[in-house]
Amino acid sequence: MSDYVIAIDQGTTSTRAIVFDKKGSIISTGQLEHQQIFPKAGWVEHDALEIWNNTREVIGQALSRADITRHDIAAVGITNQRETAVVWDKTTGTPVYNAIVWQDTRTQNIVDELAKDGGLDRFKEIVGLPLATYFSGTKIKWILDNVEGAREKAEAGDLLFGNTDAWVLWNLTGGVDGGVHVTDVTNASRTLFMDLETLDWRDDILEVFGVPRSMLPAIKSSSETYGQVESSSLLREVPIAGILGDQQAATFGQAAFTPGESKNTYGTGNFLIFQTGEEIVRSKNGLLTTVGYRLGDEKPHYALEGSIAVTGSLVQWLRDNLGIISSAPEIEKLAATVEDNGGAYFVPAFSGLFAPYWRSDARGALVGLTRFVNKGHIARAVLEATAFQTREVLDAVNADSGVDLEELKVDGGMTQNDLLMQFQADILGVPVVRPVVAETTALGAAYAAGLAVGFWSNLDDLRANWQEDKRWEPQLDAGERERQLRQWKKAVTKTFDWVD
Ligand code: G3P
Repeated sequence: MSDYVIAIDQGTTSTRAIVFDKKGSIISTGQLEHQQIFPKAGWVEHDALEIWNNTREVIGQALSRADITRHDIAAVGITNQRETAVVWDKTTGTPVYNAIVWQDTRTQNIVDELAKDGGLDRFKEIVGLPLATYFSGTKIKWILDNVEGAREKAEAGDLLFGNTDAWVLWNLTGGVDGGVHVTDVTNASRTLFMDLETLDWRDDILEVFGVPRSMLPAIKSSSETYGQVESSSLLREVPIAGILGDQQAATFGQAAFTPGESKNTYGTGNFLIFQTGEEIVRSKNGLLTTVGYRLGDEKPHYALEGSIAVTGSLVQWLRDNLGIISSAPEIEKLAATVEDNGGAYFVPAFSGLFAPYWRSDARGALVGLTRFVNKGHIARAVLEATAFQTREVLDAVNADSGVDLEELKVDGGMTQNDLLMQFQADILGVPVVRPVVAETTALGAAYAAGLAVGFWSNLDDLRANWQEDKRWEPQLDAGERERQLRQWKKAVTKTFDWVD
């Protein structure tokens, strides 16, 4: 019996492979960053071939660091940045264009055009999502409309689309030599094309977008064997048995399976997911309805999601574009040089504003400046932006569900930042709790794969692995909390109507 499961986490900034044991502890990690390509303002691309090469390499890193081989691995799980669209030629294995990343706003015109008939919520009842540049559908349409020859090839059945889960899976299972073209329900629920009730693509919506159905992967559950790793790989013949979009994976890794359970992940963006079980809840407060997970033939579990486009990437922006800090963790020290934000509020509407506003016409703003404000205050405003955005999403979750969350389970890189986590608890007014294994995204994918092959028997096995590491209690007085929130909301309104 193999002792481990390996998860591939194909994220926005890097690709990782992580080996887990039965307790859900990390045994080894391989990681490589890939290039962020910004051809124009608002455009964000990745080189999908670089991502695939990195995937192969990080698998090797993780295996050799643990000093194990494929015989020690029971299954492979895949998790991924969602919505990022790869379109490739199935006869050559070559992408016809760079992957268009979820943060990319180039498809605004497509959104506006589609919204003329029925508004932004035109398909929301069916797919759970408003029309927005965020989702894969408009990105596929852009590629077919703008890349020479793409539409003809797609209509001839030669092109395939996938979020990066499907791209990695197709390559891992052999690519042009019989690669499996499959995605899971959670990824499919981010395209604008999947009916939440039937869990199938909607031909009428595909027709409106002009996207041939033959490009789309088959939709499977999040936990079943999709295929085996091809023969030239270090993981040869190991079953690939779990796929979850990264935010759903983190929720699964947090063992938040039942209705009312939730988590908030602090990555390049922030994503709060609230499980609603077998019930499809339609948000009245700017949240998305999405699939949480589906295990084999069981019924699907749905969720509400508050997506925030820019949180951790604002810290990177401070580092890379302004040079105020030289590494991301330095921000905590800089922010601690001052007592508060000095009146400055930073609204990072770099990709417009996602939940709960969905304003693609918004652009970033730093407001409340006086001569008193220094770089320490700006660092603090940057961190606080993450916490304020999360508060607004949590308010929406509370309003939609009719119950107030009593604490917030958190994970992701920025949860190492104590100052931010304390401020988060202060501005929410409820405790913030971090588990021992903060790599919950990869863990969730490993869980989904391990469940499918019997490595773990059931959800109780997974629940038993969850352990609390740290808890931050709110300390700020309620009056001050509400005053700061009012200021923040005022700052948000300054970002609206910015795009001509
Ligand atoms: O919806 C976008 C999300 O899936 C990206 O997550 O962790 O790669 O920033 P992350």
